[in-house]
Amino acid sequence: MVMAMRKTRIGVLTGGGDCAGLNPAMKWVVKTAMDERLEWERGTRYEVFGIRDGWKGLTDVDPTTWDTAGHIIPLNPDVVRTWDRYGGTFLGTSRFSPYAPENDCPGLIKDNIERLGLEAVVVIGGDGTLAIATRLAREGVNVIGIPKTIDKDLLETDYTLGYETALNVIVEEVDRLRTTAGSHKRIFVVETMGRTAGWLALEGGEACGAYIILIPECEFSIDRVNELVTEGRRSGTRYDIILVAEGAKSVGGTEVTRKEGADAFGRKALGGIGEVLAKQIEEGAGLETRSVVLSHLQRGGAPCAYDRRMGRYFGIAAVDLIVNKQFGNMVCFNHGRISFCSLEKIYDRLSLVDVATQYDAERYNGRRTIFNKGGKTKAGRF
Ligand code: F6P
Repeated sequence: MVMAMRKTRIGVLTGGGDCAGLNPAMKWVVKTAMDERLEWERGTRYEVFGIRDGWKGLTDVDPTTWDTAGHIIPLNPDVVRTWDRYGGTFLGTSRFSPYAPENDCPGLIKDNIERLGLEAVVVIGGDGTLAIATRLAREGVNVIGIPKTIDKDLLETDYTLGYETALNVIVEEVDRLRTTAGSHKRIFVVETMGRTAGWLALEGGEACGAYIILIPECEFSIDRVNELVTEGRRSGTRYDIILVAEGAKSVGGTEVTRKEGADAFGRKALGGIGEVLAKQIEEGAGLETRSVVLSHLQRGGAPCAYDRRMGRYFGIAAVDLIVNKQFGNMVCFNHGRISFCSLEKIYDRLSLVDVATQYDAERYNGRRTIFNKGGKTKAGRF
């Protein structure tokens, strides 16, 4: 008599801002979960369902009809075979929060997960999306988090998907700007994303050799910026590249915003500091200055090799946690190893640049010492 293999359904969704690395992670969730060679060892056959548009898909789905409206799509290794080559998310995403007062539907999400028969949901997201996962986990929903955000502002992990690809965009675009900046003897202020975290500006600026890097964690003085720019010109530079994080602000000032109000997670729409700064430099230092906002270019394009690899490892690790029934955790990368931590540990907290050890607040740039006297490494991560 042939014994029927037990079946277990799991879901996967991407929430918040898209970035490169999401599709590779989903590919490896599907391939690992549906790996036929591992079925007997696991004692179950996994079926994977993609949830469209983040938490919104779990709200809009009608589980009684198996959702012909397409909020849920069955995935398999054939469907996801080429996904790791592409940026964005083939499942779509949204900034929908079931906990926002205007939606107030966590109960519906919980019920729909049950009605769809999903044993667990793999949630690929940044702080907002994973905060929702944490709150649902408190209510008994089985979730596993995978960290993604070009802002790299999640705690407990040295890597968040999308970050390296975004850094590559910064380097590529600045390389382009250098030729035109040099031809015209201009200063270029390049605005990066990152919200309240300065990682993208700082490490992007370090990678591309920016002359000045301004980050949200250290308020800047426009007089000091102009002094540095003037010094640079005196020493013979023809042009300068200044990187400014969208969340950077001048001493005693506030962040520049694109529009009023906040998103479903209560966050401001940051943007515009680059142009403000360019004007202040032109007036203050008397040097021709232009600004460029890299904006969503940083989130677009094909994932770099690192994001494909990390997406793969995070996807595999997420399924391992499901197999072991270690729910309520996020997979992480720490000290060169893939690990995991409780989602509770990252809830409502952010990883920001430590100015004392990771930034040079005099030169407005990356640090210039890595070892203290005696050979001790300065605290803080790269
Ligand atoms: O969190 C990722 C991020 O790209 C931030 O760096 C940026 O402030 C924000 O999302 C932009 O959001 P949206 O795509 O909704 O404009």
